[in-house]
Amino acid sequence: MLLPASLFCLLQAWFALADTPPTQLSLNSLHAFSAATLNPTMYTLPVSTNPLSISVALCSYATSNPPRFFVANDSTTTPGPNTLGQPNVYEIELNTTALGAWTGDMLNFGVLAIYNATQSPFEVGVSDNGPIHQFLDTLPLLGDTTTNQVLLFSPPFSPPSISQPTYPNYTLPSANLTFPSEPSSPSDWALFIAPTSSPAFASLPRTGCAMRAAAGNVGFYKTSSNSEGLWLRDSDGWRWQWFINGLTPQTNYTVYGVTNGTQVSGPIYFVTKSAAFACTIVYSVPFCPSVAYAAPLPNSDPAAGITGSMLPDNMTENLLSGMANFTVMLTTLACGRDLYSPLVTCADCQAAYRTWLCLVSFPRCTEYPTSSTTSASSNSTSTASLAQVTPALQVQDAANPRNPYLPAFSENYTALLPCIEMCNAVDRACPPFLGFACPKPQYTASWSYGVGYIDSGEKGEVGGGSTGTAADRWGNVYCNAGGFL
Ligand SMILES: *[C@@H]1O[C@H](CO)[C@@H](O)[C@H](O)[C@H]1NC(C)=O
Ligand SMILES: *[C@@H]1O[C@H](CO)[C@@H](O)[C@H](O)[C@H]1NC(C)=O
Ligand SMILES: *[C@@H]1O[C@H](CO)[C@@H](O)[C@H](O)[C@H]1NC(C)=O
Ligand SMILES: *[C@@H]1O[C@H](CO)[C@@H](O)[C@H](O)[C@H]1NC(C)=O
Ligand SMILES: *[C@@H]1O[C@H](CO)[C@@H](O)[C@H](O)[C@H]1NC(C)=O
Ligand SMILES: *[C@@H]1O[C@H](CO)[C@@H](O)[C@H](O)[C@H]1NC(C)=O
Ligand SMILES: *[C@@H]1O[C@H](CO)[C@@H](O)[C@H](O)[C@H]1NC(C)=O
Ligand SMILES: *[C@@H]1O[C@H](CO)[C@@H](O)[C@H](O)[C@H]1NC(C)=O
Ligand SMILES: *[C@@H]1O[C@H](CO)[C@@H](O)[C@H](O)[C@H]1NC(C)=O
Ligand SMILES: *[C@@H]1O[C@H](CO)[C@@H](O)[C@H](O)[C@H]1NC(C)=O
Ligand SMILES: *[C@@H]1O[C@H](CO)[C@@H](O)[C@H](O)[C@H]1NC(C)=O
Repeated sequence: MLLPASLFCLLQAWFALADTPPTQLSLNSLHAFSAATLNPTMYTLPVSTNPLSISVALCSYATSNPPRFFVANDSTTTPGPNTLGQPNVYEIELNTTALGAWTGDMLNFGVLAIYNATQSPFEVGVSDNGPIHQFLDTLPLLGDTTTNQVLLFSPPFSPPSISQPTYPNYTLPSANLTFPSEPSSPSDWALFIAPTSSPAFASLPRTGCAMRAAAGNVGFYKTSSNSEGLWLRDSDGWRWQWFINGLTPQTNYTVYGVTNGTQVSGPIYFVTKSAAFACTIVYSVPFCPSVAYAAPLPNSDPAAGITGSMLPDNMTENLLSGMANFTVMLTTLACGRDLYSPLVTCADCQAAYRTWLCLVSFPRCTEYPTSSTTSASSNSTSTASLAQVTPALQVQDAANPRNPYLPAFSENYTALLPCIEMCNAVDRACPPFLGFACPKPQYTASWSYGVGYIDSGEKGEVGGGSTGTAADRWGNVYCNAGGFL
């Protein structure tokens, strides 16, 4: 290959500067550097007809003398602090998360110059398809916590394609739900979990490589191979599911999701329970996909939680029988032909009923929130006022469980009541002849439901509740809700 004369001259200049010619960084790949020895270190960049994205991420704590990254997309100037401001020279500035990206034309020439990188390991991504390093909008999801455990989900991906059944062969999912087949190449996700107030975590760059490197010292880095596998919790899509042991009681933790090692999502927060918390996390229940929280069930292996196959047989049988009976009743209607609503179908009704039945069959345990939250919290007025809203709590007498099929539990516990909206969803989605009715908000509803959190509780009003949500990313949980298919 013949080099243009100007490039040749520039390369000559570099030979003088460095003993080795600059390395070419290949397109659509990630380049990891432990630390550069030369100052500056030069790399040639691939040329591309599409806009080229160069992204950089620091993989270790910022030093007082952080590395600086410059690109040039023509051959007449050596990029660096002295030529910045000249045409076709750009600095890739790192922001507070120690991430930086530049996207632009690299039609016939490109060079990257790295200054002062002698102390920090870092990564450079070169792509013609958007920056390799990015911050994403999607969030991981909290299942629930115990004293020293947490159940967490990755952000969703690969939403299932669910085809509505049609008349005359209107077949609803069976009571013992079976998932569609798992995506053949699921998105790669990992989680990073660290105590929110840890000083070592506060200054850690929010980059995938820094979190990976800090694991063991500052927090946990759990890849999909450390997970409990894929779970289809709701119609948003598949998620990786992690059941994690070894946390500290009554501690606020921060969680980031990391996909492909480079793209970071989050944070979300959660708080572990006190040492007195006695309930067990129930998850991976195929017929109740959105049950992923602590319930008053005795557990022979506390480190593993309780999965669907470990539930007491008569509890499972009763729930499946209730689900099957409801489905039989529902299909006395000619579903798909005798439309009872322009908006909802028998399948919507069955799904809403399943979510509701699961939430009321598995009570959710919680604790009264401790009044003190960390002082380092944000000063936004909305989160401050939300933190003062009391969740829908009710102390339960263990001797008289609401669900008679719940096995005996040794102690009274504080229940987090289901959100009334979960009941209203069934009411709205199901044909009136089924006679499903929810208690009225102004009368008895608050005896068994969380009222006024998502919806205001005024008759027929959707929205306008005190929190607008059942749970938020800060780790506050107000009432029990679930996703459904
Ligand atoms: C360098 O990139 C900028 C930003 O994309 C573009 O406007 C400019 O035309 C490019 N210069 C050359 C020589 O390609
Ligand atoms: C590199 O670090 C030195 C101090 O060690 C500083 O004087 C210089 O300005 C830095 N270079 C760049 C490009 O920031
Ligand atoms: C930091 O820069 C990256 C890459 O440009 C971007 O995705 C991210 O949103 C930025 N973060 C902040 C906090 O500005
Ligand atoms: C009815 O639909 C189900 C599921 O969609 C399918 O398995 C079954 O073969 C269909 N039955 C008839 C008679 O078409
Ligand atoms: C529900 O289905 C799963 C998988 O299809 C099966 O392993 C399990 O035994 C079934 N449970 C019951 C109670 O029938
Ligand atoms: C993940 O990163 C690799 C390089 O490390 C890249 O080849 C691949 O395209 C990336 N995948 C996605 C989905 O971004
Ligand atoms: C479902 O119906 C059968 C037959 O009518 C009945 O024996 C059973 O108790 C019902 N299941 C539930 C949970 O109500
Ligand atoms: C956890 O800490 C974060 C950051 O300080 C704070 O915003 C959040 O409210 C805390 N969560 C709880 C449930 O205390
Ligand atoms: C939080 O406080 C800082 C400094 O007091 C201020 O700059 C910032 O705008 C405040 N943020 C909000 C969301 O009020
Ligand atoms: C469920 O099964 C357990 C153990 O087999 C039994 O002790 C309990 O009485 C049963 N509960 C009901 C409501 O039948
Ligand atoms: C549970 O609460 C009931 C009713 O308040 C009380 O009578 C009972 O002693 C409590 N049981 C335990 C184990 O604390």
